[in-house]
Amino acid sequence: MTRQLDTDGRLRHFLTTEGLPRNLLLQLLDTAESFAGVIGKSVKKVPLLRGRTVINLFFEASTRTRITFELAAKRLSADVLNVNVATTTVKGESLLDMLRNLEAMQADMFVVRHSESGTAEYVAQHVGESVSVLNAGDGWHAHPTQAMLDAFTIRRHKGGFEPLVIAIVGDVMHSRVARSQIHALGGLGAGEVRVIAPRTLLPRDIESLGVRVFHDMRLGLKDADVVIMLRLQRERMQGALLPSEPEYFRLYGLTEDKLAVAKPDAIVMHPGPINRGVEIDSRVADGARSVILEQVTNGIAVRMAVMSMALGARRETPPAPA
Ligand code: CP
Repeated sequence: MTRQLDTDGRLRHFLTTEGLPRNLLLQLLDTAESFAGVIGKSVKKVPLLRGRTVINLFFEASTRTRITFELAAKRLSADVLNVNVATTTVKGESLLDMLRNLEAMQADMFVVRHSESGTAEYVAQHVGESVSVLNAGDGWHAHPTQAMLDAFTIRRHKGGFEPLVIAIVGDVMHSRVARSQIHALGGLGAGEVRVIAPRTLLPRDIESLGVRVFHDMRLGLKDADVVIMLRLQRERMQGALLPSEPEYFRLYGLTEDKLAVAKPDAIVMHPGPINRGVEIDSRVADGARSVILEQVTNGIAVRMAVMSMALGARRETPPAPA
């Protein structure tokens, strides 16, 4: 596996939250906190990545991740390019050849989303020394910046992680977000991480990740501080893993009634996009305890932190323009 950290222990690539040391996870959250202040100002830019080139390579659909990565890079004063993958791959060029050409244009960072697990890792293995690769979601494997913006949102509301009971509910099987959350929250010392799902939507090895497994939603939500709902990923399912969407909603959809067993100050999260009436009721998604849109806003600061840590701190300052 490609090393994410350089020989000094600093972030080089960001491919997964698995195995990252607590101090680096906390440094990332603290850096994001400083950028959150910048985002609130009338002039939202800092010159940290002036002269750097960030290339977004999204081979799979995205609204939140792609746009907040682009905003984050622009807030850091980088030059940002969004490659139209649909038109650039039509002539049959391989991914590797495309990368070599983009590197020849002096790219400093690739932000990669792909439906195949391992693509960001593959890209990181093949780029030159001076290029960083950020995983914006690969197959079922990992979505590390989503996990960190979720951790950031939790810390802002709850102040820390140690005493918390955090419940992750729904389609864990197909969720790169859930995997990355479990690794990040474990690394940050969360008190108890629970997963709540039907057996058909849980990976076999899930307990080896240190979580408590529940199949009954009311038991799993009892006294939870944080409730994270997952999107039902129909597009990744093969065969009948569910009886029907109405039945799924009856058993695992988050309603005010089910949320009542969590702590009174529990927050409700969802990485988006949400399927209203499938995994979450609109009254909860839009209700007072929902922080779903805050998560989106926090994505900008967290992605600024990841980009600046991977590029800004490690590289030499670019020369000032003549
Ligand atoms: N949470 C998330 O990854 O959303 P997008 O697919 O819109 O990027």
